[in-house]
Amino acid sequence: MARDSISHTLLVATILCIVCSVLVAGAAVGLRSRQEANKEQDQKKNVLIAAGLFEKGKQTADEVDAIFDASITRVLIDLETGEQVDSDVVDPASYDQREAARKPEFSTAVTPSDGLGGIKRREKYAFIYEVKNDAGEIERVVLPIYGKGLWSTLYGFIAVGNDASTVGGITFYQHGETPGLGGEVDNPRWKSIWQGKQLFDENGDVKIEVIKGTVVDTTTDATHKIDGLSGATITSNGVEQLVQYWVGPDGFGPFLEKLRQNEAGGSRG
Ligand SMILES: Cc1cc2nc3c(=O)[nH]c(=O)nc-3n(C[C@H](O)[C@H](O)[C@H](O)COP(=O)(O)O)c2cc1C
Repeated sequence: MARDSISHTLLVATILCIVCSVLVAGAAVGLRSRQEANKEQDQKKNVLIAAGLFEKGKQTADEVDAIFDASITRVLIDLETGEQVDSDVVDPASYDQREAARKPEFSTAVTPSDGLGGIKRREKYAFIYEVKNDAGEIERVVLPIYGKGLWSTLYGFIAVGNDASTVGGITFYQHGETPGLGGEVDNPRWKSIWQGKQLFDENGDVKIEVIKGTVVDTTTDATHKIDGLSGATITSNGVEQLVQYWVGPDGFGPFLEKLRQNEAGGSRG
């Protein structure tokens, strides 16, 4: 076959394609376990950020693992009852929460008025992260939250104190909002505003809200209010609604109610 013939060119191109595909596929398969490990590491880091146990730039990956293992217990709960899920029903080790939200048998329908925007289903079982002190008592819990902003689904965590109402911290680790506008959900100053705010009023109703503008000393019910992100009312409303949904009766409400009762009647440790 002549080197400059069409069939020779096609043959070389085909062989090159096959070699490249094998290399790419091999790299994807070979690196999968490392990708999984990185994903798990990232989740741990984000739980620690919400829990207030992560100092940016100061902790190595091994230290993140050590802090997580020493202070955090991951528990899979049934959102409807707030109870821990029996491992005979679902094995927590292999449970993929995001995947579950797409499977009818592991999820439940959500309507737009519920507050999760265009999200149509949410998982029945969700991981919560108990943060314990040296005496083994629950100090706060970290809850996974998500919902729609303007352009994207925002995924994050909110930490709640053992009174089941005081916000310990919030973080969003994945979203596609505009940097400088909705993307300010990542801004440490804005996130710090959440610390100490109360999710519920004295009747146990969800009261937290993100207002348009700034909360000042004279703002009524300031303890339940968060400054809106300027120029990003749609993202701010999305965050308000998703937080209200996840701490409310259709989200972690039953779990938080149990936590409140346990703490009122003595810690379950
Ligand atoms: C390029 C572009 C990107 C925008 N990104 C966001 C965003 O991420 N989040 C958001 O709420 N609004 C965003 N907006 C603004 C919204 O369209 C809307 O004007 C805004 O949410 C209203 O908020 P305000 O009442 O605080 O001005 C963006 C606008 C433009 C032109």
